[in-house]
Amino acid sequence: MIYDNHNRPISYLRLAVTDRCNLRCFYCMPEEGIKYLPKHQVLSYEEMERLVRVLAKLGVEKVRITGGEPFVRAGLMDFLHRLAEIDGLNDISLTTNGVLTAPHIPALAALGVKSVNLSLDTLDRARFHKITRRDELPAVLKTLDALLEAGIQTKINAVVMDGQNTQDLVPLTEMTRTMPVDVRFIEEMPFNGEGSHYPVLNWTHKRIIEEIRAHFPDLQKLLDPPFSTSANYQIPGHQGTIGVIAAFSRTFCGTCNRIRMTAQGTLKTCLYDDGVLDVRALMRSGASDEELTTAFLKAFSHRPANGFEAEQKRDTVTESMSTIGG
Ligand code: GTP
Ligand code: 5AD
Ligand code: SF4
Repeated sequence: MIYDNHNRPISYLRLAVTDRCNLRCFYCMPEEGIKYLPKHQVLSYEEMERLVRVLAKLGVEKVRITGGEPFVRAGLMDFLHRLAEIDGLNDISLTTNGVLTAPHIPALAALGVKSVNLSLDTLDRARFHKITRRDELPAVLKTLDALLEAGIQTKINAVVMDGQNTQDLVPLTEMTRTMPVDVRFIEEMPFNGEGSHYPVLNWTHKRIIEEIRAHFPDLQKLLDPPFSTSANYQIPGHQGTIGVIAAFSRTFCGTCNRIRMTAQGTLKTCLYDDGVLDVRALMRSGASDEELTTAFLKAFSHRPANGFEAEQKRDTVTESMSTIGG
């Protein structure tokens, strides 16, 4: 196991397999979309497999596949099969918007995919259409049913947006009454392709939990699993749990075990940094596995202590989450 310069283990890779997406979520990109990378600038599956092998040797045990939307890239299931063969990886998970996912769920279950995180910001079809700029709520709900049917652990990601979906906090919380899902409310971050939507963040993790507690006064705090981004709660008698992710307030950096690879092969050692290593350039200029390893170790020994330090070292955050993978 490798530890960073702040004594945090590096055991979790978030791998963006594409920057493309079939939705246009308000919190992620402008209505007209973002300029997508030309195909040759995106890592090939072979390149991704190679770097996961190198990282697995260094102690990475978990890979979360992100995008863009992972299922818009052809050949994803074959790639997941190849990842499942890599020694040392014991957890392959996926974050998806659920539009194209349902037909793949039996194959994901057969592959041993442990958990799927599903973006779902509202249960109201008109609001879903307004937030994502596409009328795809029925497809996403079909995916949710299929995930539960397959017994895959499902976390629902709802970004809380002032003036857009705060009326959904209660109905989304209500889902946990009868469904064994973890509904997580996420502070909105300025990764939307344009810059911050607000002068100050009104809906902080504290306000989100106060609002839920006002409707469910017997809400109870749970013990959080190690390295959890969410602070977790449960309403007694409910099957599922509630979580709040202080993604903007950055309360969990002290236990951060994550690194990220963007679709174009840039290593980020913090979500808020500007990219610390051009892994694609290294690989395409013929670097050996040993040279890649040395470059990774150097990057891991220079990690910022937290997302505020990472942000200070760069220009204003404006990129789209679609290119980073969350
Ligand atoms: P697991 O713990 O593996 O379930 O992953 P997760 O819940 O962190 O992943 P997911 O892709 O579902 O992301 C949920 C939200 O957490 C998204 O808004 C991510 O951008 C945010 N997030 C994930 N990792 C970090 C992080 O290291 N820092 C911050 N600030 N936000 C993060
Ligand atoms: N702020 C917070 N969360 C975001 N996500 C995407 N963009 C943002 C943002 N600007 C979340 C989505 C998705 C996860 C990978 O990241 O909910 O589920
Ligand atoms: Fe697509 Fe996810 Fe971005 Fe929405 S948040 S536009 S689903 S990549």
